[in-house]
Amino acid sequence: MQTLTVDLGDRSYPIHIGTGLLDRADLIVPHLAQPRVAVVTNTTVAPLYLERLTDTLTAAGVAVHPIVLPDGEAYKNWETLNLIFDALLTWRAERKTTLIALGGGVVGDMTGFAAACYQRGMPFIQIPTTLLSQVDSSVGGKTGINHPLGKNMVGAFYQPKVVLADTDTLKTLPPRELSAGLAEIIKYGLIWDVDFLAWLEGHMDKLRALDADAIAYAILRSCEIKAQVVGEDEREGGIRAILNLGHTFGHAIETGMGYGKWLHGEAVGAGMVLAAQTSERLGWITAADVARARALIQAAGLPDVAPDLGLATWLDYMGHDKKVESGKLRFVLLKKLGEAVITGDVPRDVLTDVLATPH
Ligand code: NAD
Ligand code: GLY
Repeated sequence: MQTLTVDLGDRSYPIHIGTGLLDRADLIVPHLAQPRVAVVTNTTVAPLYLERLTDTLTAAGVAVHPIVLPDGEAYKNWETLNLIFDALLTWRAERKTTLIALGGGVVGDMTGFAAACYQRGMPFIQIPTTLLSQVDSSVGGKTGINHPLGKNMVGAFYQPKVVLADTDTLKTLPPRELSAGLAEIIKYGLIWDVDFLAWLEGHMDKLRALDADAIAYAILRSCEIKAQVVGEDEREGGIRAILNLGHTFGHAIETGMGYGKWLHGEAVGAGMVLAAQTSERLGWITAADVARARALIQAAGLPDVAPDLGLATWLDYMGHDKKVESGKLRFVLLKKLGEAVITGDVPRDVLTDVLATPH
């Protein structure tokens, strides 16, 4: 097991990465304020891992109450969130009861938001079971739900007490979901670390085959980069926005196509190609750089061409982006491979060219 820390003063917390972590009560129990937890999961993950986690905790004297939600991005909404509150109130969960998220980013984002709201804040723990959630969504405290008009539009910054990324759980993940996680891993190379980008180019086959050493290193390096960025700018006053490379375009794809049609990571993959093309149009990176980014996204098994939403729809959905300031769209683009910038100065004709017929 490897451990790193998200450094946020008195809200700092460890991320443990390794195998067999679902059996490790010793990594969870010290973070509980009382020996009671509610485990939020979904109908897909529950049959795979809920019993194992429950056995681990009950053997350590912890009372466990399961909350099993419907599965899917389309359920990341108020109605499903309310099911968590219904269950917590019915079970008489208290403010010191801990909420545990067992699942992918959808379960993690909703559980974290429920924890931020229930009795104005109860502790929560992330046990991410998808590659995407192990490298991104479980770390950094962004929680929330979707609105029909925009992705992740309602939520809170609320940090977990500990993150447990058990890499064994990835063995049951469908290949399409694995690829979606690889999109966020590629993102870290593009925005922050060109050496990691080169490492990914050399190890993509191993990653897709779930080679244990390669996966563990990719998760560790991704979490290191995310922890560093979040440690510098927890509430996205500035640099944290670079973690959204490809997301302005990607969120428009997700909302425009209907939640769940394109996986979040798939939309981010195609969105990163659009961001790279926009960066090229601004003269910051070369056509060869764009081709290199595209090749890696393809090698990860991701779509590299966005759907044609129509310019008006693109602009409409991108206008709901959380980076919009005073009504002006802001984009995360690439100054070079391994270095991102946040800019509000993308001329309309450049955007029109890139989005008119995505290619
Ligand atoms: P997801 O949560 O929908 O999980 C993908 C699918 O895999 C689901 O069907 C799920 O039930 C299933 N699953 C989960 N673990 C499994 C396992 N071990 N074996 C088999 N199946 C398993 O999707 P995701 O890609 O994990 O997360 C995407 C969500 O994360 C989006 O809503 C996105 O907005 C959010 N996100 C949040 C942040 C953040 O900082 N909070 C960052 C990135 C993404
Ligand atoms: N996934 C973007 C962030 O956590 O800031």
